[in-house]
Amino acid sequence: MAVHIGAKKDEIAESVLMPGDPLRAKWIAETFLENAVCYNQIRGMLGYTGYYQGKRISVQGSGMGIPSAMIYCNELISEYGVKQIIRVGSAGSYQTNVVLNDIVLAMAASTTSGINNTRFVNADYSPTASFALFDKAVRFATENNIPFNAGNVLSADEFYEADPDSYKIWAKYGVLCVEMETAGLYTIAAKYGVDALTILTISDSLVTGERLTPEEKETSFFKMMEIALAVA
Ligand code: ADE
Repeated sequence: MAVHIGAKKDEIAESVLMPGDPLRAKWIAETFLENAVCYNQIRGMLGYTGYYQGKRISVQGSGMGIPSAMIYCNELISEYGVKQIIRVGSAGSYQTNVVLNDIVLAMAASTTSGINNTRFVNADYSPTASFALFDKAVRFATENNIPFNAGNVLSADEFYEADPDSYKIWAKYGVLCVEMETAGLYTIAAKYGVDALTILTISDSLVTGERLTPEEKETSFFKMMEIALAVA
């Protein structure tokens, strides 16, 4: 048992899908996995292990924000021997050509968080996706005619920004969208030498102010899950 995950040593697979919302973890396990067993309920941060097309995989909620995601990534890797983590989440678009329901593969994650500025003593570190997982996702999406965007995303510390125009500087430098966890995930994966990739669905737009309804969000998750399960 780890501090925040109540599983026994062998109850978590080497490959983990990681949504932010623990109830999304439950939905993924019930919708896509066979013989899924719940291994964690501590703090309601549900985790399941089951089988997808014969392969053992787990799905673990991360909670919202870099600090929460880093706790679960740390424990999955260092206590349970996890070798790859694929985040599946939603994001807000920063670009006019990245629209609701679009898929974004996060090649790298900029951040407003101070985690790496502290870790690297006032220098910048570039949290980056695993090339192996990124390549697999690109090939699968291309072969199956699933359109996607790929590039830099922003992992923000705040959902409600003090200045509604603050996104524009990131947009100008080509950042595709904003979410809240990937810079933490990629940093911890790099620290331990394991693979990580974030796949996102655009649920809202900072450019137009549009937002998917919860029902629309659920439908749009299917396309992203197809890619994530193929990569896992
Ligand atoms: N996740 C989905 N939409 C978001 C937004 N606008 N900001 C931060 N995280 C998000």
